[in-house]
Amino acid sequence: MCGIVGYTGKRQAQAVLYDCLCRLEYRGYDSCGIAVNTPEVQVFKDAGKVRNILQNAPRFEGTAGLGHTRWATCGEPTRINAHPHIDCTGKISLVHNGVINNYAQLRKRLEAGGHKVVSDTDTELIAHLIEEYDKGNLEEAVRQAVKEIDGSYALVVMRSGDNTLVAVRKDSPLVIGVGDGEYLVASDVPAILGYTNRVIYPEEGDIAVISPDSLKINRNGEYIIPRVEKINWTPDEAQKGGYSHYMLKEIHEQPQVIQNTLINMPLTESFYKSPLLEQGRKTGILFLACGSSYHAALTGRYLVEEHLNIPVRLEVASEFNYMQHLPPCKLAVVLSQSGETADILRAMRRLKQAGCMIVAITNVAGSTAARLADHVIYTQAGPEIGVAATKSFIAQLVVLYALCFACASAASPRYQDYLSTMRLLPGAVQKILGSHQNIKDAAIEVAKSKSAFFIGRGINYPIALEGALKLKEISYIHAEGYAAGELKHGPFALLSPETPVLALVSRDQTYEAMLTGLREIKVRRAPLIVIGEDGDDQLEQLADRVIKIPPFNRLFSPILFSVVLQLLAFYAAYELGCDIDTPRNLAKSVTVE
Ligand code: AGP
Repeated sequence: MCGIVGYTGKRQAQAVLYDCLCRLEYRGYDSCGIAVNTPEVQVFKDAGKVRNILQNAPRFEGTAGLGHTRWATCGEPTRINAHPHIDCTGKISLVHNGVINNYAQLRKRLEAGGHKVVSDTDTELIAHLIEEYDKGNLEEAVRQAVKEIDGSYALVVMRSGDNTLVAVRKDSPLVIGVGDGEYLVASDVPAILGYTNRVIYPEEGDIAVISPDSLKINRNGEYIIPRVEKINWTPDEAQKGGYSHYMLKEIHEQPQVIQNTLINMPLTESFYKSPLLEQGRKTGILFLACGSSYHAALTGRYLVEEHLNIPVRLEVASEFNYMQHLPPCKLAVVLSQSGETADILRAMRRLKQAGCMIVAITNVAGSTAARLADHVIYTQAGPEIGVAATKSFIAQLVVLYALCFACASAASPRYQDYLSTMRLLPGAVQKILGSHQNIKDAAIEVAKSKSAFFIGRGINYPIALEGALKLKEISYIHAEGYAAGELKHGPFALLSPETPVLALVSRDQTYEAMLTGLREIKVRRAPLIVIGEDGDDQLEQLADRVIKIPPFNRLFSPILFSVVLQLLAFYAAYELGCDIDTPRNLAKSVTVE
């Protein structure tokens, strides 16, 4: 899941490419490179991060070019494997995001045909394929070349001396930015927001031919007039806004995100009286997601089963794709912040073929998941740049709560009260954000440990999983989330004075069982950090440290606990000097399987 960009226009391309790559870096950051037509194409690339590598690049004068920041899949992150890649003539250059499954056969054929393949990547083979078909019409050469590829690709191709770009996509995100006398092509919208908020979303298989003053899109052999859409995100939203890290800024945006998401929820009578719900009642609902979105979906299952009495089958998409039998559910709800996670898209295509109705809860307008779904509910988190999901996770929870309570309110008016209570959530979250020295202190303690446990019961079990994931992915401390009742079935063996246990304690029906669990942990002398409600003295007696959440309807404790755990992970990683926004080996949206 790399970040790709192309530019053709009147500005100096190198500066535009550098700027866009800095905004794309959260997609992959092990190597990077640019190609600029000067007018002969010049390429500069190396292993390392955009700011470290491209700031020292030689100056290339030219108004068209390509750029790439990589998340290696095929070929180690080295200079030779970095993009852009060129063909034998050195005239064709290209950048690619995706994976070519049949690259071994292609390489054999191309090398047998005399092509000199210099890197270990699958991508370079595309340059040689285009070279094979190039009879002077780059669009046609690209069309013929991609016919031979089995896999996923978002590609931007450029010929030396010609400022026309050719872009094509299949199972990989691509957006075209429409400027005045200039065009940008990129993997996602935040990269180009500084230049335009007018975008085109090419469909699967579309071939775009882009020159500074014209754009043609060929769809299935026909040239079409593309729909230009306006993006309501501002460039500032994709900036740090004075915070040290995107993650911290995004954590602090959550009160506004909750408000925006609630305001934009389609909670109309027609929605929750829609046949969708009847469908769900008849066959149950299938929830599908990955990573943090999976933890939100798991929370959603507790809500739907408890408050709507509808059975929910929940699967991680990457496993679902290899399950022989499809569940009987005729309604599926997929959660994906980016809307581009390959495992999710594959599952959606399979469910569509099986005639399943799909509702997508996503944060990115125009994303592939949004276009594949029958119904879309957008979380209003705005662009999320930090690799660790924070505001998007909270927005997903808010959507699930609001949907569930709106649908339940048809049966009982008390749910209308819950919906009104949700309007007070931003205030409660702001209280946590307003004063969190005790979270920082706990984080400094956790940062000293090599591993940690996060435990919760009931609807807070998924939040324990999420807390562990947040700490793992940004601080590199090994952490496991556990259903609190499961700890004694094995993991207790790992408890020691060096292994802190972080327990989420809500005064709901699981309260007494949680207290019992805390006592069992205490006697095994593991440091106990409890996150619980203000004024709960019992916790003070049991825990080594208590982090209090403001008094609030405990139905919503998962949302407040999540904000505490996000801050805890952030400050632990900060204490350890980790690369919080772009943690090693990760990427924001996982567009390959
Ligand atoms: C979470 O912090 C991670 N970035 C990752 O687990 C993420 O949630 C997962 O890759 C799913 O992404 P999606 O919501 O964009 O589909």
